[in-house]
Amino acid sequence: MKKKTLNIAMIGGGFMGKAHSNAWLRVAEFFDVPFRPVLKVIAGNKTHLEDFADTWGYEEVTYDWRTVLSRKDIDVIDIGTPPYLHKEMVIGAAEAGKHIVCEKPFALSLTDAKEMREAVEKAGVVHYLNHNYRRIPAVAFAKKLIDDGRIGRIYHWRGAYLQDWVTDPDFPLTWHLRAEKAGGGPLFDLSSHAMDLARYLIGEPAALSCVNRTFITERPLPGEGAATFSAGTGIDLSKRAPVTVDDASFAVVEFECGALGSVETTRLATGCKNVHTFELYGSKGSLKFNLEDMNELLFLDASLPAGEQGFRRILVTEKEHPYLNAWWPTGHIIGYEHTFVNAFRDFLMAVDGKETVKPDFNDGVQILRIIEAMKKSDAERRRVSISEIDS
Ligand SMILES: NC(=O)c1ccc[n+]([C@@H]2O[C@H](COP(=O)([O-])OP(=O)(O)OC[C@H]3O[C@@H](n4cnc5c(N)ncnc54)[C@H](O)[C@@H]3O)[C@@H](O)[C@H]2O)c1
Repeated sequence: MKKKTLNIAMIGGGFMGKAHSNAWLRVAEFFDVPFRPVLKVIAGNKTHLEDFADTWGYEEVTYDWRTVLSRKDIDVIDIGTPPYLHKEMVIGAAEAGKHIVCEKPFALSLTDAKEMREAVEKAGVVHYLNHNYRRIPAVAFAKKLIDDGRIGRIYHWRGAYLQDWVTDPDFPLTWHLRAEKAGGGPLFDLSSHAMDLARYLIGEPAALSCVNRTFITERPLPGEGAATFSAGTGIDLSKRAPVTVDDASFAVVEFECGALGSVETTRLATGCKNVHTFELYGSKGSLKFNLEDMNELLFLDASLPAGEQGFRRILVTEKEHPYLNAWWPTGHIIGYEHTFVNAFRDFLMAVDGKETVKPDFNDGVQILRIIEAMKKSDAERRRVSISEIDS
């Protein structure tokens, strides 16, 4: 198929700027998509953006992201900045009629999330919220097994997202540790992902009980060049300021499907680098997944004779597994970056009007509703129904 060009303006040249740029470059090479994305402009607020542009092949650099909105030659605005900037960028991009990719967590509050959703609905543009872990083939395959009835009635969900990159009390107060910039700590950053996977696989939470906790209450100010997973240099340890987000968030969750589950997220799980796991237990079978072994899915099939059961390790690399027809021969594993490429494949098909893409900004609103319920439960020390929070 002859591919049409689709011009991308990427906002933010950090961790996600890199992951997204790579995905835009790869997607038309591996997937049969109608567009060839062109890296037109990189927008940011830091010096050395020229180096970033040179590395990834962006045609232009701007230090004012607003300038890309009014440009007729830009088709997609891709937002990879800290959460406090998402609202203004999403609404501006929607009003300019651009299709939008936005990083998670979607917004700082449910009120903001609703305004952002209203803007894209009014504009009629394609909107995708990047909970990329849905695009891991093993996770999408788990979804297929559930939908095919292989797990039966689901009794339990155990979800966790455990990291340890801020365990050092001298790790500084980057934007991730400031409520006005990040919304919250793991509650926003990691529970948004963990709840998205739970919703994708077994459906909506109906009620929850949650405890959020900040263990390290003061930290030094950030050094030069601090970013995600990086303290920066030249930190003055004598100057400290309050941490205004949680370090951990643990919730007991009752799902609409009847399952009883838990969602634990923390950045203080010493030794856990990026442990994003789920276990689900059903009447006909069970599944286990860990992001650190992302090509594998453990499946227990309870329809087998008892003596032959036990968790089987499925290497999810077959051509018939989701997304893998586009990648390597069987057994040739894929990695973190492929989740972004797979996601952009789905986004491009939605821009072409051939498919829809999820999660979208409706999901962003729903996840903020769940996060608000988690905050309320913690603040009021009680079980909160999601229906108590305005939709
Ligand atoms: N989907 C995932 O798995 C995943 C992983 C990491 C981060 N994220 C999310 O992606 C977003 C960005 O995180 P990151 O890790 O890339 O952060 P980062 O700190 O590495 O990079 C943020 C970038 O935003 C830019 N920026 C900041 N203020 C700006 C402004 N006013 N105008 C233009 N650019 C500005 C910075 O220059 C920087 O390049 C966050 O919402 C984060 O939660 C998602």
